[in-house]
Amino acid sequence: MGIQAIVPKQKTQDTVVFNYSLFTNEDKLVLAPMQNLTSLFFRKTFSHFFPENIDYAVSPFISVSANAQNPSAIQYKDISPAENKDLIPVVPQVLGNDPDQILECAKIIQQFGYREININMGCPKKDIVSHHRGSGLLKETELIKRIFDVIFENTSLQISIKVRLGIKDSSDLEKLMPVINMYPLKSVIIHPRTQEQQYEGETDLKAFEYFAMNIKHTIIYNGDIFTVRDFTRLKTLFPYIKHWMIGRGILKNPFLCADIRGIPYNKQEMLPLYLRSLQENFAESLYHYNEITILNKMKEFTKYLSLNYDFDATPLLREPSLEEFNKKFYNVFTSKLK
Ligand SMILES: Cc1cc2nc3c(=O)[nH]c(=O)nc-3n(C[C@H](O)[C@H](O)[C@H](O)COP(=O)(O)O)c2cc1C
Repeated sequence: MGIQAIVPKQKTQDTVVFNYSLFTNEDKLVLAPMQNLTSLFFRKTFSHFFPENIDYAVSPFISVSANAQNPSAIQYKDISPAENKDLIPVVPQVLGNDPDQILECAKIIQQFGYREININMGCPKKDIVSHHRGSGLLKETELIKRIFDVIFENTSLQISIKVRLGIKDSSDLEKLMPVINMYPLKSVIIHPRTQEQQYEGETDLKAFEYFAMNIKHTIIYNGDIFTVRDFTRLKTLFPYIKHWMIGRGILKNPFLCADIRGIPYNKQEMLPLYLRSLQENFAESLYHYNEITILNKMKEFTKYLSLNYDFDATPLLREPSLEEFNKKFYNVFTSKLK
């Protein structure tokens, strides 16, 4: 297992920055599902600009409901085989708790040609958890068995799950572990936080290690990989982990996976083009062109980008016109990347 990439990354005047990432040929980078952010429009842009940076994506969750039997229903647009054909591969994720409804959805996913379904057992939103969905499922051991049973008995899909540690502490995942180990799951994505933590506070790496050692399936680590240094630290702690899922880190810094892999890019040229494409693909994804919706989406991305590119996002977030926003937005990046 050699260090794949110790290559000069970018030369700026007299400074040479080296990439010390411990990324190896065995490691895989996975794009995290983020509702309304890492959707089809984002994956189109990302696949175009960074086709080799990510191995696959998990789709933002498809909410399973009573009317999930129609393959042309709006909730399936994100995973439409025709639209996803030339993009980075995607694993459809479902959010639900009714085994029969999940099965209907799984059958459509299989009919679309996918081989794997991911079940969301991690979403921490209160209204979702209170309906025993997302991380609210973690305590429902018997229900989870029924869900696994109906999918395995009625489809040929592989099943992966995305979990948190539990609601208040890791005892929920501990209790669920025998069930997880009982079924031939493809992989288990672990975000080592509790539902109460939402996306804030320390990740519990000791708990992660415990579950990584005791769950017998492929483990995918997920949480707070924002820099090459974060990746390297986690890879040093868990050298046996080969799958790394990244969400917010990619929104903050679109070059993060390239930096981890040691792929050089002309960032100055590429970033404005990438951001423009993101806007165009988002606009195209709307049924009706709506400037305010586009402006608000770009503001969401701005919040993430400002954390990496270190600029004050306030004037952009207050801007009421898309045209003016765009002028200011591209100026920020042109001056930042000089
Ligand atoms: C705005 C937002 C939307 C998210 N949507 C989903 C989702 O649809 N399905 C899911 O499993 N996780 C979802 N997540 C959780 C992420 O996939 C990921 O677990 C979390 O952001 C931690 O990883 P990160 O630190 O790399 O961002 C979402 C997170 C955020 C912040």
